[in-house]
Amino acid sequence: MGTLEKEINRRRTFAIISHPDAGKTTLTEKFLLYGGAINLAGSVKGKATARHAVSDWMEIEKERGISVTSSVLQFEYDGFCINILDTPGHQDFSEDTYRTLMAADSAVMVIDASKGVEAQTRKLFKVCVMRKIPIFTFINKMDRDANDTFELLDEIEKELGIATCPVNWPIGSGKGFKGVYDRDEQCVITFSDTEKGTKEGETRVIPVTDETALTGAIGEDAFATLTDEIELLDGASAEFDLELVQAGELTPVFFGSALTNFGVEFFLQHFLEMTTTPLPRKSDKGLIAPAENDFSAFVFKIQANMNKAHRDRIAFMRICSGKYDASMEVKHVQGGKVMRLSQPQQIMASERKILEEAYAGDIIGVFDPGIFSIGDTLCMPKEQFRYEGIPTFAPEHFARVRQMDTMKRKQFVKGITQIAQEGAIQIFQEFNTGMEEIIVGVVGVLQFDVLKYRLENEYNVEIRLEPLPYEHIRWIENKEEVDLNKLVGTSDMKKIKDLKGNPLLLFINAWSVGMTLDRNEGLILSEFGRD
Ligand code: G4P
Repeated sequence: MGTLEKEINRRRTFAIISHPDAGKTTLTEKFLLYGGAINLAGSVKGKATARHAVSDWMEIEKERGISVTSSVLQFEYDGFCINILDTPGHQDFSEDTYRTLMAADSAVMVIDASKGVEAQTRKLFKVCVMRKIPIFTFINKMDRDANDTFELLDEIEKELGIATCPVNWPIGSGKGFKGVYDRDEQCVITFSDTEKGTKEGETRVIPVTDETALTGAIGEDAFATLTDEIELLDGASAEFDLELVQAGELTPVFFGSALTNFGVEFFLQHFLEMTTTPLPRKSDKGLIAPAENDFSAFVFKIQANMNKAHRDRIAFMRICSGKYDASMEVKHVQGGKVMRLSQPQQIMASERKILEEAYAGDIIGVFDPGIFSIGDTLCMPKEQFRYEGIPTFAPEHFARVRQMDTMKRKQFVKGITQIAQEGAIQIFQEFNTGMEEIIVGVVGVLQFDVLKYRLENEYNVEIRLEPLPYEHIRWIENKEEVDLNKLVGTSDMKKIKDLKGNPLLLFINAWSVGMTLDRNEGLILSEFGRD
């Protein structure tokens, strides 16, 4: 195997998804700890900064030059080169959160054992399913009182529609948490509350056949429950099947406690074996295999506002094939230009370092003078193909934009169009009238503030946003076949169009979406927009 193939094969690129507070940051910190990337957990991202109010967030963004929400971390563990993509949550939830998933080959879903499946997990999960990427579940906080294990698994299966296969099984929870049972090795790994953030924990591994040792370690009651549960489990749960895992149809489930560092390394080791090496990507010339092709990449995220005076932007790209080195010239397919990527960098925790080389699977950020758009392809000058575009994700908040000073119409249109191009917001118009009325849609409400702030600061345009009550948007998949004027909608439905003239429907209630589908035979609605 050549160096290129070796380098690519040892790469694992995944996103971590969860509802805020499930323990994503804590788990990431522990991963880094095992990778030796940090000495003591607690430094992935400043807790304090993550919780700042909106206005502070803007300042932080400017000061640090890079969004606190855009971390891509790379570290080494056991011969693997691991890229973790963080999916911003809290008030930073935005379309970027979804786009991040387009750059990952698999996803780790962190669930709080006392809460089960929560709203944000559900949303992100949908995108993983659309991409059919493997999903690994880490049920966290077992050191706290947890929901019943069978019920937790049932909830994942019912709510998310994916089969589950527990790799290990918890013995009790909260104060009664005794450890986990490793189903493959048929042994119990005992829990001991380790010091926060340290690697050393006193665990014992006891074969399940050693009844004396086990009852001594976990108690007779826990032993009896475990024996019953194993029997139930072996009869009821899906069998492990790597192919189904890699097709995104079965999720391996692990139990642990990120805070006390229990079950984290177990998870990491199994996950790295089960997840995939960088996957081939679809292009208009067919699948592009990572190791058999020269350098190629696609842009999945653009981070604006790095430097107000220059309107600096950083384009984040995922390398899909070959090797990148800083001296080479590449072609920006959509722009039709051959160029050298300037200031390629990798983001390590909060630091940025200029990088010399990178391989398929890696994520790099390059300086963007305003030429890249989300979904653009970069490849070698002699090649000519385009990666499949990134879909537009459904915004959930809408507002009508009113411009305060109508004399500044030109700047306003320019500003809002540019911001929309970067993908921070989506803009729409009334279906039957022109550009006068602009409706803006966002995935996370913070984007409204970002829009207002940026129009004022970068384009000197003041706006007022009037919130609209719609929460559901649908693209019309078969728009050629549907006569919008004849569409029978519900009373809360509103027809709009995007800038390309594509018709869309807005609804206040989810129920109305179904109703409209019922009333219009043959109508196909989608939550994702594609060009
Ligand atoms: P997030 O990134 O998914 O939003 O979650 P984060 O890791 O920030 O964790 C949220 C809270 O849950 C933190 O507590 C964290 O310490 C706690 N936590 C994470 N994993 C576990 C676990 O396995 N067991 C228990 N008991 N708690 C866990 P906090 O009080 O909000 O913050 P901090 O003051 O502890 O930093």
